[in-house]
Amino acid sequence: MCGIVAYTGYREAYPLIIKGLKRLEYRGYDSAGIALLNGGLRIYKKKGKVSELEESLKNLPLSGNIGLGHTRWATHGEPNDVNAHPHYSSDRKLAIIHNGIIENYDALKKELVNRGHVFLSETDSEVLIHFIEDIQVNSQCSLEEAVRLALHRIVGAYAIVILAQDASNQLIAARKGSPLVIGIGKANGPASEYFLASDATPIIEYTNEVVYLKDHEIAVIRDHQLSIKNIDDVPTTPYVQTLAMELESIEKGGYEHFMLKEIFEQPRSVYDSMRGRVNSKQGYLLLGGLREHLGRVAKAPRIIIVGCGTSWHAGLVAEYLFEEFARIPVEVEYASEFRYRNPVVNEGDVVVAISQSGETADTLAAIELAKAKGAFIFGVCNVVGSSIPRASHAGAYTHAGPEIGVASTKAFTAQVSVLAMMAIILANERGTISKGLFYQLLVELEAIPDKIDQVLQRSTRKVQHIANTFKDASNFLYLGRGYNFPVALEGALKLKEISYIHAEGYPAAEMKHGPIALIDEAMPVVFIATRDSSYEKIVSNIQEVRARKGRVIAVVTEGEQLISQMAEFVIEIPVAHEALMPLISVIPLQLLSYSIAVMRGCHVDQPRNLAKSVTVE
Ligand code: AGP
Ligand code: GLU
Repeated sequence: MCGIVAYTGYREAYPLIIKGLKRLEYRGYDSAGIALLNGGLRIYKKKGKVSELEESLKNLPLSGNIGLGHTRWATHGEPNDVNAHPHYSSDRKLAIIHNGIIENYDALKKELVNRGHVFLSETDSEVLIHFIEDIQVNSQCSLEEAVRLALHRIVGAYAIVILAQDASNQLIAARKGSPLVIGIGKANGPASEYFLASDATPIIEYTNEVVYLKDHEIAVIRDHQLSIKNIDDVPTTPYVQTLAMELESIEKGGYEHFMLKEIFEQPRSVYDSMRGRVNSKQGYLLLGGLREHLGRVAKAPRIIIVGCGTSWHAGLVAEYLFEEFARIPVEVEYASEFRYRNPVVNEGDVVVAISQSGETADTLAAIELAKAKGAFIFGVCNVVGSSIPRASHAGAYTHAGPEIGVASTKAFTAQVSVLAMMAIILANERGTISKGLFYQLLVELEAIPDKIDQVLQRSTRKVQHIANTFKDASNFLYLGRGYNFPVALEGALKLKEISYIHAEGYPAAEMKHGPIALIDEAMPVVFIATRDSSYEKIVSNIQEVRARKGRVIAVVTEGEQLISQMAEFVIEIPVAHEALMPLISVIPLQLLSYSIAVMRGCHVDQPRNLAKSVTVE
């Protein structure tokens, strides 16, 4: 949660920071604020979106070459002007922005209040800057030293940037648990420039040379120089990486919303997730990150998959894939539950951690726990260089490109593609599938991007018509069996998170054990009923809903006759191998939730109360 951006160099800081905050707004949008050295250290902040802050500042002369900005997802204190970041120290000579949670803030706050500090906000972040100031004043040390000493006493997670109004006009940044990237800009004569941000999106239009700050590192930018030390004051050598990300990939490119752009990008993003990894003609399937560890992973007595939200749904699909093809027992766990229930993890177990952002705190914590118990961690993540890949022993990136819409779409299909490749590789290694099936699956995988494209071309209109019919419904049920059961869960999650309609996903056969009581003439029921091994059974489930006057919307395989006569609406999708069907059947459900949310006037890309990257537990 929270977007952090800061700049020091030779450009005007204000427009650059505002633009950066807009790019990071998907991370949190409760409030926005900036601090500039503009005839003294000045903070401007406001509840609401970055554009509202910008509007309120439009008549002010805001100049200067150094500053920082924040877009908040509130954890401590309601979203309002006062709790918005940045926060001042008591003497107003320091300003802080913070992403994360200071868990021991209450004890520190009491200590500081006893020493005369007065707090304006309810945030944990304001406590941190007062604490740093207190140490600096009492120990008469440098700001850098005060930050270091303070962080030694902090329990919790943070990415912070501090701007100081002193002789050296410095920026000090540090991280533990929350992400922070430093962009190294181009030199302009003797002047250099540096960018700091929660992810590379605000930086990429200026430079692609970046350093990912590591946990327990403190970066100081002073006198056009960057230096990084660890929290024990030992200098570290920054590892400068060159990013391949392109600016177009983080802009809307003519689409009304990022979510729509990302839905339509899926033929490409699924292709990219397989590019160089699958070649059916040569009978070739390779995941670089798995190759070195194949022996170990293929011999795992058990695979435990952890993730949250949509990534957890991709994990459920993977359970079916791994068990069906590789015959390895799999458990899929919500990362948050796994972490807190003292699970049995044995040495030799492989934990597959799935995450788009690579920053989800629950998933990271689950990894740490499993690592401590001796498991081997394989990360499946989208954001290159993020925390989960770095905490994993090995992994495979999904290559979906930046996903900005809070509702995850192309990340899901890229995850399922990578997990399907992993299952087939493991099956081949273990000899649990025939050569014939191995080749057939490669051909099927390669055909997926085109099939997704067909769904997008052919069903968008139909889906809009369905959306228009049901946009005012108060509830939806999504039912599927086998590989389409996780798709039902995913369809329901998409609808609730962006349109605020209550929706539930269920295995279709479970309906008769309870949810069937909900069915009446007002209940839309979405069946994912493609032709697969449980087809006959799901036909019976459709009849059961019809008999109770439920309104049936069915996603079916092209040419389907029987269900077409029973359902009020059908959406046809191309035939594919049953195990890969989620890659196609999820597409109309993404479009349906998108269309309904737009018709209901909802904020599609930034739904209420949510944030893209959940870096709190
Ligand atoms: C999905 O649409 C969500 N907004 C959310 O459930 C998300 O999938 C979850 O927070 C996990 O995020 P991650 O993949 O970045 O770890
Ligand atoms: N805990 C801080 C606040 O509530 C930062 C929140 C965050 O990073 O999401 O303001």
